Amino acid sequence: MSSLFDFDAKPDPYAVMGNPISHSQSPLIHTEFASQTQQRLNYSAIQVDAGGFEQAVGNFRASGGKGLNITVPFKQEAWEFVDERSERAIQAGAVNTISFNDNGQSVGDNTDGVGLVRDLMENHAIELAGKRILILGAGGAVRGILGPMLAQQPSEIVIANRTAEKAVALANEFNRGDQLQGCGFPSIDELPFDLIINGTAASLQGELPSIPATAISSGTCCYDMMYGKAPTLFMTWAAKHDAPKVLDGLGMLVEQAAESFFIWRAVRPDTREVIASVKAAL
Ligand code: ATR
Repeated sequence: MSSLFDFDAKPDPYAVMGNPISHSQSPLIHTEFASQTQQRLNYSAIQVDAGGFEQAVGNFRASGGKGLNITVPFKQEAWEFVDERSERAIQAGAVNTISFNDNGQSVGDNTDGVGLVRDLMENHAIELAGKRILILGAGGAVRGILGPMLAQQPSEIVIANRTAEKAVALANEFNRGDQLQGCGFPSIDELPFDLIINGTAASLQGELPSIPATAISSGTCCYDMMYGKAPTLFMTWAAKHDAPKVLDGLGMLVEQAAESFFIWRAVRPDTREVIASVKAAL
């Protein structure tokens, strides 16, 4: 690892790989983390074509690369590719962070779930212990957050998905009895939830998961794992039904990045000012 004071050393190379990648905020985030913590590194965005993942990672490592973030659509491929996986990566079934150790081995981790939990608890002071939580969606994004969410001991998590069987199968896989259940949208019960998290890709298609407005009460926080310049459809729906707290996933993005940065550099950056600059850059 080179420090700010090794003037002769090349900055350590890091990158995010995905497709598409041109709109990734990760280079901005990690560059800000690096200057804030005085770490000498260079973080770039690499677009990888389908079928080219292994080759791209091999080239990056051969050129001295120290670590990678992996985003859509390569998180599962990264999981299969790495030599070792953290417990979080095993649970998530996906890898978003790769480190290359001195023996040339690659270690895969997943920081998405911890990023969400930190954004909720530390940035927004939302308690999860003992809470009733509704998670919409049962794809890779939701699988990635379940372990860290369950670790906070909520009283109940209901996973609701357009395709009910996928929600039921995902809940069964984590095997938490009554604490974790899966169902289709029409089977969501009418009692309000403390927290509703949208982990579906519905907003990308301009659609809203069809969930009952009774899920929201005067104490419900609504959180969309997506983010953008404008509020998502889910956020607009939540505000229309008077949810007192409506949040997007920008904080999760920066927090998962901070955890990756910590894995690579053993330094924890301050995320608040970086969240503000990413928001301004959208
Ligand atoms: P990701 O990695 O983003 O989770 P994914 O694994 O393809 O992507 O999962 C997409 C999720 O969004 C799924 O839960 C999907 O529901 P289905 O399992 O029924 O396909 C959900 N989704 C996508 N489009 C949706 C829509 N228009 N309405 C509701 N849910 C939708």
